[in-house]
Order: sequence, then C-alpha cells, then structure tokens
Amino acid sequence: MPKPRVTDPAAPQLPDTSTRPDTPALVDTFGRAASDLRLSLTDFCNLRCTYCMPASGLTFLPRDQMLSADEVVRLVRIGVERLGIEQVRFTGGEPLTRPDLDRIIAGVAALTPRPDISLTTNAIGLDTRAAALKDAGLDRINVSLDSVVSETFERLTRRPLLHRVLKGIDGARAAGLDPIKVNAVLLPGVNDHELPDLLDWCLDRELQLRVIEQMPLDADHIWERSSMITAADVHQILEGRFVLEPADEPRGGAPAELYEVRDRSTGAHRGRVGIIASVTRPFCADCRRTRLTAEGRVRTCLFSREETDLRHALRSGASDEEIATIWRAAQWGKKAGHGMDRPDFVQPERPMSAIGG
Ligand code: 5AD
Ligand code: SF4
Repeated sequence: MPKPRVTDPAAPQLPDTSTRPDTPALVDTFGRAASDLRLSLTDFCNLRCTYCMPASGLTFLPRDQMLSADEVVRLVRIGVERLGIEQVRFTGGEPLTRPDLDRIIAGVAALTPRPDISLTTNAIGLDTRAAALKDAGLDRINVSLDSVVSETFERLTRRPLLHRVLKGIDGARAAGLDPIKVNAVLLPGVNDHELPDLLDWCLDRELQLRVIEQMPLDADHIWERSSMITAADVHQILEGRFVLEPADEPRGGAPAELYEVRDRSTGAHRGRVGIIASVTRPFCADCRRTRLTAEGRVRTCLFSREETDLRHALRSGASDEEIATIWRAAQWGKKAGHGMDRPDFVQPERPMSAIGG
C-alpha cells in the first residue's frame, strides 16, 4: 500500500503561513479553529473489523516508533496550554492494548486547563481496567460495537469475542463511566437488518447508540458508495419499530444528529439515538478536529493525504513553542473537506486503524 506523504521530519515542508493571522489557536484558512484533539495511541488492535483492517498482512509500529506516555502527555500539554485544545479523545487501533493508558490519562487529567478526556475502544479487557481508568481521570467512553449477535460480530470483526466486549461494557458501567455511547457501522447484508434489535438492546441498557455511515477507510477497499447504508436508509430501517423525532439540542461541532426514540406500537419514550452522516451530510465546515497518529504526526483530517511529523522535533530537543509552531502551520493547511460523496474522491492510503477514529 502506498504511504501518505510525510513532511521531512528534520525540515518539514509546511504550508505557506504568510497570511495566517497572529493567533495562538489552531486556525485554518476556512475560519475553523480546532479545539478537539483525537490522538491515536497505537495502530494495533485485537479485532480485525472488515471495514477497518485487512484479515492479515499488516505490520504494526515497533514500540520505539510510537510516542511514549511522556511524549503523549507533553504533546497534549502543548495542545491545551498553547493551542486551545479543550477535548482529548484517545483512539487507536485499540487504545486498551497500551498498558500505560492509565498513566497517560492521569498525566492529561493533571493539565491546566484540564481537558475533557474520552476514549474510543472496543471494550475488550475494559472490565478489569475501567475503575483504574476512571480514577485516572477518564470522563467518557465510546464503545465500538456493530452487532450483539455473536455470529454477526465474528463475521464483522473476524474474532469470536463478543462476550468479552459485553463484559467490558458491564465493567465500564460498574466503574461508573457515564454516559457510555455505542458506535455502530452498518455493512449492507451483514448487520443492517439487525439495527432495530441493536437499538432496542442499547435502549434497554441506557447506552446511547450512534450509527455511523461507513467511510472509505478500510484496508481492503470494500466501501462502495452505491451500496453503503446511508443515514436515510437508517431512518427507513428503524421506522418499522420506532418513531424518531429530532432532539431539541444544539449540534455545535458534534457530528451526531440526535433523535428522540419512541416505540411505534406503544408510543413509549425509550431514549435517544445518534446518526452520524459523515458521507451523505458531511459536517466538515464545522469540524473542530486535529489528529495525531501513534507515531506523532499531525493529520488535519481523517482523509488527509499529508502528515506532519512532530516526533522528530520532540526527540531532538525542540521547545514547546517550536512544536506548537509546526502544529499550527500544519493545521493552517487543513483542507475544506473530505469530498467522499464526489466521483473523483480518492481513498486515503492508511486504514482507519492506523489513523485513529
Ligand atoms: N467508517 C466509519 N467508521 C469507522 N470506524 C472504523 N472504521 C470506520 C469506517 N470505515 C469507527 C469504528 C469506531 C471508530 C474508531 O471509528 O466503528 O467506533
Ligand atoms: Fe480495531 Fe476499531 Fe479497527 Fe475494529 S474499527 S479493527 S476495533 S481499530
């Protein structure tokens, strides 16, 4: 697979910042300012979801190429102290596969101003770690779970581990992590027909389900615009059993459109569901994100074709302000949007697992 173009770490080719306003914030040429940092802690995962990873043949980053816990905390510190980062989400790969996750979270929770700290996880192993993570300062979690039928789960993730995910969710709840959101991606003919049951299951447990349109980020290039399940399809699939009404809540930069859910037969209010229409109703114009890969490269978008290395600067004695300056310049070059719904769209080279959802 071709690799994304990376800036020469020793002499980064940065966007022209001559027209950039003199502000510490992570602004771009489209008037957006990033306050939400998504940080991938590893490209490794113990599942192999078909919409994300290939079945085999991946090589993972060696440990010395990944940011250490101290390096992660330093970059987040630079983000919150100098760049206006207010929210930090740890992703992967699977972030729970990092044994030092508790230490990273504790380090970030000790920063001033303290950012909001969340985790996107597949929940495997969360049962034994949730209490320590919460104590360390974890505020919220999103669990990726596309099916509660074990055969379907195995078909989607290529691993027979549904029971471990369910145990992880129970452990998170017992540790007092609240809210727990569930992210589901629907694949046509695989789990789309299960959606009403999945929503029922989540509502029964006070888990907030968010259905995410599948994006072209998989290693095997299985995504097809013509067959993907769209937000409109989601409404149609749910309509038989539920009534959805837009929730009365400002969306801000949040990607999920929220709906109040009622049972169609009884009219009883059951809770809420979120729909994230990344492909058919893109929210790029409101995007407040900046991303760091596990090896310390800025990606200004999931669909970036360029990455800007910060690790070299980190490891060669650069000051906080020097690192902040490179990060600001990279963000200045953020593109308007992903253009997924256009015919000339080109899929990024790296799968989701290597970018960090
Ligand atoms: N399209 C949409 N969402 C995806 N995720 C992973 N790959 C894709 C994709 N191709 C989601 C996972 C997880 C989060 C990290 O990103 O479901 O919840
Ligand atoms: Fe792992 Fe998440 Fe990718 Fe699934 S989507 S393979 S859980 S990183």
